[in-house]
Amino acid sequence: MIGLLAIASYASSAYRLSSASPVLWIRQGLQSSYTASLPNVTIFATGGTIAGESTSSTLNSGYDVAASMQELVDAVPEMLQYANVGGFQVSEVGSTNMNQTILLELHKAVSAEVLKSNVSGVVLTHGSDTLEETCFFLYLTVDTEKPIVCTAAMRPSTAVSADGPANVLQSVVRATAPNARNRGAMVSLNDKITSAVFATKNHANNPDTFYSTDAGALGYYLDSIPYFYFEAAKPIGTRYFDISDPYALPQIDILYSHQDMNPGLPNASVALGAKGLVFAGNGDGGVADLAYYAAESIHNAKGISVVTSHKVPNGWANTDGFVIGSAHLNHVKARILLQLAVYEGLDDEEVGALFDALRPNPWLI
Ligand SMILES: *[C@@H]1O[C@H](CO)[C@@H](O)[C@H](O)[C@H]1NC(C)=O
Ligand SMILES: *[C@@H]1O[C@H](CO)[C@@H](O)[C@H](O)[C@H]1NC(C)=O
Ligand SMILES: *[C@@H]1O[C@H](CO)[C@@H](O)[C@H](O)[C@H]1NC(C)=O
Ligand SMILES: *[C@@H]1O[C@H](CO)[C@@H](O)[C@H](O)[C@H]1NC(C)=O
Repeated sequence: MIGLLAIASYASSAYRLSSASPVLWIRQGLQSSYTASLPNVTIFATGGTIAGESTSSTLNSGYDVAASMQELVDAVPEMLQYANVGGFQVSEVGSTNMNQTILLELHKAVSAEVLKSNVSGVVLTHGSDTLEETCFFLYLTVDTEKPIVCTAAMRPSTAVSADGPANVLQSVVRATAPNARNRGAMVSLNDKITSAVFATKNHANNPDTFYSTDAGALGYYLDSIPYFYFEAAKPIGTRYFDISDPYALPQIDILYSHQDMNPGLPNASVALGAKGLVFAGNGDGGVADLAYYAAESIHNAKGISVVTSHKVPNGWANTDGFVIGSAHLNHVKARILLQLAVYEGLDDEEVGALFDALRPNPWLI
């Protein structure tokens, strides 16, 4: 049986959870008829290449984020064999311009949707560039057993061999799959299934861009059906943060470590409002001495937590004195975890314990 998707304009039922938000929240698509035996999946569309329209089918860059959620769904009617699909057009931004206004609204909307007993799972369509940030944010802040599947595209919808349609189809199927439950938010692109905790973008142009760092992929799609290599589990040490009504999340800055790094940056960041710092460190988290000492003085003066990550994709960053190692998290993910920790009011010692919890338990003899 094939569900029908009749989209009407729901401009009157604007989906606006925060009146302060300048983002236009319109419940754009809603089914007028459905197949009762099928699961229901809700798509949250935010923009990005997956919705991109270029002036030529051979162009893979220089496009506008124009195609609507409706067009996205129209491009993949096959998804209606697996689910009744409804959706929200959350924003129309490329993911480079994704920001906390949109993120907080998205968080509220996704949290509300997964609470509905008739919704099996949700799909997020998003630009690929910062997808791992948004997906990890949802992983940490939406408390649900239901699948949250984050997907994107590397080629605009107008390109020859656009990858968006297959990615959306696979993501919708996964959002209905019982074996996709209890794994937290996941990234789904190019036939691969990865945990939001480990997923990272690895190629600037190629559709095969997301992979999972050391921990490996969770599964794979064959004929659009998800197969998992492991029983359902969540990565060690990850926990849920309740951000049910934040006014704003604190600013955390990332400082990139390199030769001749400017030692004025830690102080400059804090002067500009940062409430925590993350170094994208060398190797296992190394920071040049002058920047390290500058961070130490601002840490001592203002009690700001400082985390260091590894700017190389894989491995573990170690704690070094007052600087807390991010364990396996890369710098963009360490920023999000530190942001939630500071939001929750954790002190430096508690922030250290939070990152330490990400390390598998050592075998104590
Ligand atoms: C999908 O939603 C419809 C309408 O609320 C409901 O009748 C149906 O049971 C839902 N399907 C599942 C699998 O929850
Ligand atoms: C986030 O982006 C939206 C859409 O462009 C914009 O309206 C909003 O002001 C931005 N918020 C911040 C905090 O920059
Ligand atoms: C699910 O149930 C809610 C009420 O709890 C209803 O508003 C919504 O339309 C239903 N969703 C679908 C897909 O039928
Ligand atoms: C940074 O600020 C601290 C405390 O405000 C100060 O002691 C230190 O000299 C400053 N360091 C640099 C490199 O500006």
